[in-house]
Amino acid sequence: MAETVIYVCTTCRVADDPSEIRAGAKLLASLENLLADNESSFRLEGVECLSVCKRPCTVAFSSPGKWTYVYGDFTAETAPETILAGAELYSATDDGLIPWKQRPDALKKGVIARLPPSLNAPSLPEKTA
Ligand code: FES
Repeated sequence: MAETVIYVCTTCRVADDPSEIRAGAKLLASLENLLADNESSFRLEGVECLSVCKRPCTVAFSSPGKWTYVYGDFTAETAPETILAGAELYSATDDGLIPWKQRPDALKKGVIARLPPSLNAPSLPEKTA
């Protein structure tokens, strides 16, 4: 089974949050702690901005040959378990398409975009002058 990557935007911030640590960084830390306590095949990747800044916190699920999904509106405090539950469902699919009825509500309401699987196209030949 191909590895599932959970991308977490570490630069997401919540309005009126006086903390110096951004909500996205807190979410990543919470997910790291949760995964440390579980046997998991997920790979967590912190990234700076997924261009969904108005719907913090933002994450994405991706895996070779599968649709990539981007979700927003997560909180650092309550979302980690939901995100991992969603990643489990995503990981169990062949194509990344989690049946709608199986999706946690946060994934139904928070879905922002999906991107088709990479075509794994061979690299383009180098340009010659
Ligand atoms: S800062 Fe998180 S999506 Fe832009």
